[in-house]
Amino acid sequence: MGHFSVLHTDTFGNGEVLAIDPYAVRRTEWTVEADYRYPSVNPVAEPGPDGRRPVGETHFRYRIELPFAVWLGGASGPRSVLFSVCAPTSATTLRLYWMAAFDPAVYGNGPVDGAGLQAVEDLIWAPDKAIVESQRPARVFAATEVHRAFDGLGVAYRQALRDLGFAG
Ligand SMILES: [Fe+2]
Repeated sequence: MGHFSVLHTDTFGNGEVLAIDPYAVRRTEWTVEADYRYPSVNPVAEPGPDGRRPVGETHFRYRIELPFAVWLGGASGPRSVLFSVCAPTSATTLRLYWMAAFDPAVYGNGPVDGAGLQAVEDLIWAPDKAIVESQRPARVFAATEVHRAFDGLGVAYRQALRDLGFAG
């Protein structure tokens, strides 16, 4: 959550949010979960007279299904869910599959603009991809990392991967 207001200000990141409220992380044998409410900028709205796009609370609900699948509720709007699965293709590459679902009671039964959704997600994920691909060392279990409280979800996920034997 800590990078939203720094890395994603071209889309949903709110540059005025300078602190991350504490959040709880829940762990079971095969899941890691966290909820977080964030005053996100609407990435597809037109800017108002002040040049700003509207801000609204997004209730992010993360549920990681170990080892490589994630349900992300709320990110694409209330009662939406984005499901992604990473399929490793080598020690340093992967293929990412994702799908989104929207409650017809909120969004209607009309067709989803898949190309539009893909375009928004490409914009959101582009800076993440650039950061991840530029990290050195490339391994995620680097002992020299410094974590803060807002890294709790990621830290718990890494611990869960270690517990499954992925720390080699
Ligand atoms: Fe990101």
